[in-house]
Amino acid sequence: MYSKEQTQELVKLTEAIKSGKTQNSPAIQIDNLRKIINFHDWRYYVIDDPIVTDFDYDMLFKKLKALEAEHPELKTADSPTERVAYGLTKEFPQVEHIAPMLSLDNSYNAEDLRDFDESVKKLTDRDDIGYTVEPKFDGAGISLVYENNQLLRALTRGNGAVGDEITNNAKVLKSIPLSADFDGQNIQQIEIRGEVLIRKSVFEKTQKQQEKDLKAWEAAKAKEEKNIGSKPKVFANARNTASGGLRMQDSAEVAKRGLEAFVYYVGHAINKEGKSVLLKSLNSHHETLDMLYKLGFKAPMKEITVCKNIEEAIQACAQWEKDRDNYPYEIDGMVVKVNDLHLQDICGYTSHHPRWAIAYKFKAKTATTKLLNVEFQVGRTGAITPVAKLEPVHLAGVTVSSISIHNEEYIKEKDIHIGDTVEIERSGDVIPQIVRAIPDARDGSETPVEFPRNCPDCQSDLVKVEDEAVWRCENFDCPSQIVERLIHYVSRDAMDIDGFGKKQVARFYELGHLSSIPQVYHLPYDELKKLEGLGERSIDKLAEGIEKSKQQPIARLLYALGVRHVGKGTAKRLTKSIGNLMDLQNFSLEQLQEMEDIGPIVAQSVYDFFHNPKSIDMLKELEALGLTFTQDVSALTPSSNVLEGKTFVFTGTLEKFSRNEAKAMVEDNGGKVTSSVSKKLDYLVAGAKAGSKLKKAEELGVTVLSEEEFLNLIG
Ligand code: IVH
Repeated sequence: MYSKEQTQELVKLTEAIKSGKTQNSPAIQIDNLRKIINFHDWRYYVIDDPIVTDFDYDMLFKKLKALEAEHPELKTADSPTERVAYGLTKEFPQVEHIAPMLSLDNSYNAEDLRDFDESVKKLTDRDDIGYTVEPKFDGAGISLVYENNQLLRALTRGNGAVGDEITNNAKVLKSIPLSADFDGQNIQQIEIRGEVLIRKSVFEKTQKQQEKDLKAWEAAKAKEEKNIGSKPKVFANARNTASGGLRMQDSAEVAKRGLEAFVYYVGHAINKEGKSVLLKSLNSHHETLDMLYKLGFKAPMKEITVCKNIEEAIQACAQWEKDRDNYPYEIDGMVVKVNDLHLQDICGYTSHHPRWAIAYKFKAKTATTKLLNVEFQVGRTGAITPVAKLEPVHLAGVTVSSISIHNEEYIKEKDIHIGDTVEIERSGDVIPQIVRAIPDARDGSETPVEFPRNCPDCQSDLVKVEDEAVWRCENFDCPSQIVERLIHYVSRDAMDIDGFGKKQVARFYELGHLSSIPQVYHLPYDELKKLEGLGERSIDKLAEGIEKSKQQPIARLLYALGVRHVGKGTAKRLTKSIGNLMDLQNFSLEQLQEMEDIGPIVAQSVYDFFHNPKSIDMLKELEALGLTFTQDVSALTPSSNVLEGKTFVFTGTLEKFSRNEAKAMVEDNGGKVTSSVSKKLDYLVAGAKAGSKLKKAEELGVTVLSEEEFLNLIG
């Protein structure tokens, strides 16, 4: 980023300003101060190598602030003084990402990585694939958009399609440049993705202080002291500290958390003419990160390994796994990426992840602890889940005290007894599991786990369907089920009702205000406002959220209704081509099964739901309450049917459109894109340097089209 000469010059300038010997105009002084503060920020936050004391830095900063206060006409949005004290942001606007923020596919061993390599080779028709290997940072994903050199917007990952706009909070992170010379790269607009993290040492220090504060608070509370404030929080792990930090309302508080941002991906970069510069002036992942690094971003240049082939990448992953504890940030694996952006483009994306990258997950960490008890919980579909209550234990950054242990068979298979010492593992990175009981540690006081035959809540007889592992409470009016159904209905992925959480649902249920989905829309707001801890403002917000939920599209509504076996994806597929949710009443079992990816079990469940008078009554009530039951099907159906029933494979380097655009064009016209060439294939569209797929298509007599001919075909 800064050459030797520039560094020398900036160090000299720092010394000159410190000694007060400079006699420049305010404009020049301000400009110089900005330059050197940005330089020292970069040394401190990006390359971890500061060369001024905190005291000197503060002095320079104060000087700049004072000069800007004296000369407000010289203030600019990208001045380092703009990084602090934006005040409170009440609500973060939801903003759509330029392109969805996808996840990564996972691998767990060398074999998985070799399989990945095979699939890349197949997709690209090449056998000389080079990779990069870099850490998989365990923090909170972030997207940064720069326009005309200035940071325009920062978004959290959110649900991948839409994130929270947290620009003011991002601006306090000194590893995120407020402006950068993208002009010099002929880039007018760029979207950069990265991860916000907290250094392990900073997190540990913060956590220790929080634990101290909590103890002091508890002691004060025990003594019934007054004005002790609210209960201090103790962050569970570094990742939550980062993601919670990004969404704090007070950016001054965010600044205190010591967050940093690594950048690792550019999905979109265009020049003044609106043309992509990716694949033109930027040709590899390494080059892209290097450009960002040179512009002042914290790109993982020290960490990245460029590998000639997958075997070198496997070695790099293994080495990092050994050394992971010495790395100053939490990482949960490595990311292996195809280095060549042209080959990345050929590989393309699924709806979930890029086909040119894969996460190599480190082995889960294990710990042992005592199983204190097993409790049985009733889920929204009546499934009974045993939950192991454990002596709290620290495992891969979180404290674990409770683990779901699936079902009766699982308990029997693992021969788990209450009182056992058990080995637990945090596989992947989120859900801990009991790996095994340790029988050698038994002293005879352990007791077998008794699985109940009656619902632990409503006492109804439990039922177990043959071939299913779970026992169920079949009482639709079981209080636990009602509450769980409602929690699901209001949840973020379902109707996404702001301000409506688990606690509120349980409380309103207990007070007798809420026991069915339609009652969500009949809550007695005036009474609720009188409840302790709620009040006017939160209930108004809740009412607003409830009203807004009436606009949710029918796919969300269907998912929210909690029909068994209907997850988010299934709900989308079921509603893809219907104009009214009630149309599902008219589908026979066979017709349901004919829908894409709908099997007999899902079909039966949907059929039963839409033929149950109780559900129909509920749906009618919801419709009368003003919920959205219709959608514009014309917007959903293909713009033409000229490719109806036709299949396409795209191969080689495409020049006129990207793979994603090609796929969209085919689907918009009623066709399908596949990846393998067979006799059944209708068309192979061949770009430059097409290889084995083209050969095979010619051998099989499949029609081969140029990009031009393909465009003509769809008119
Ligand atoms: S690349 C299309 N590189 O891991 C771009 N992601 O579990 C895909 N992550 O959603 C992302 N470190 O938030 C990439 N070096 C890295 C990463 C990384 C962490 C996150 C990212 C992603 C998640 C998937």
